[in-house]
Amino acid sequence: MADKRPEQMQRITTPELAQAFIDEQISQLRAQIGNKRVLLALSGGVDSSVVAALLVKAVGRQLVCVHVNHGLLRKGEPEQVVRVFRDELGAELVYVDASDRFLDKLAGVSDPEKKRKIIGKEFIDVFAEEAAKLDGIEFLAQGTIYPDILESGPVKSHHNVGGLPPEMHFELVEPIKLLFKDEVRVVGRALGLPENMVERQPFPGPGLGVRCPGAITRDRLEAVRESDAILREEFANAGLEGKVWQYFTVVPDFKSTGVKDGKRSFDWPVIIRAVNTRDAMTATVEEIPYDLLRKLVARITSEVPGVNRVLYDLTPKPLATIEYE
Ligand code: XMP
Repeated sequence: MADKRPEQMQRITTPELAQAFIDEQISQLRAQIGNKRVLLALSGGVDSSVVAALLVKAVGRQLVCVHVNHGLLRKGEPEQVVRVFRDELGAELVYVDASDRFLDKLAGVSDPEKKRKIIGKEFIDVFAEEAAKLDGIEFLAQGTIYPDILESGPVKSHHNVGGLPPEMHFELVEPIKLLFKDEVRVVGRALGLPENMVERQPFPGPGLGVRCPGAITRDRLEAVRESDAILREEFANAGLEGKVWQYFTVVPDFKSTGVKDGKRSFDWPVIIRAVNTRDAMTATVEEIPYDLLRKLVARITSEVPGVNRVLYDLTPKPLATIEYE
């Protein structure tokens, strides 16, 4: 497939157009792959999930998905990937819980770029180790989408598996590389993927690691994960899921005094960030209704261990970036 979107290519906006795309891709994928095996790093994000679902339809268990849990995923995410792809779609899925390995490597590392490098390198190492255990793989599937090609060349950064050792070279399979994000979501829905997977917010490759600024500790990371889960649940209850572009929590590496059960506490704050943007280059702050904020404060301070304050970040981008690292 060429890397340039033909000018006459129709925008995929309806289930019918998505179905036509799916049918065409299935026959193309079958022709490309034949009876060989294909490997895919399945993060559980929209793009890799749609590629996995397309390939399961096209070549069934000739596809091997590898889901690497780097310990920095959101609450419930690895479980959902296993449930949807292994149990519901019947995909061949290798689940690797590499949390300890990543967190041990990250211990004591506070520089954001070093953290990113460690996560990226470790991800490739774990993926390559799993790939080496498999026989007869000739293809590597990737969830490259059109903006990746337009902006940064053909290979995705971060969850990028383009850095595999040179002895492992596979032919690339990139079935959604001419699609824009909104089209990928329409196709995902037509493939029957769950709504929360199709509407998933952008999530950085280094995951919750960039929301646990400075050196990551397991307890502070748990505070990020638990507070994020509460925020997502309450946003969904308030009908804001899929309406606000990106929302998450951050737990900075400092403590302040509070009072809990009549005693002084010395605990972390949780920062709430909720932004809207078109292209992530600039962003405005979502005006969270006060009732919802109050509920978030009550739940986070009572349910998340080690937290005694909740703060709301009102800073647009620029000046602040969306993430904290
Ligand atoms: P910033 O923080 O630069 O983020 O305003 C802009 C958008 O990019 C996402 N982001 C990342 N995505 N790897 C990714 O795959 C990263 O290291 C990374 N850092 C930021 C961020 O979530 C936001 O949507």
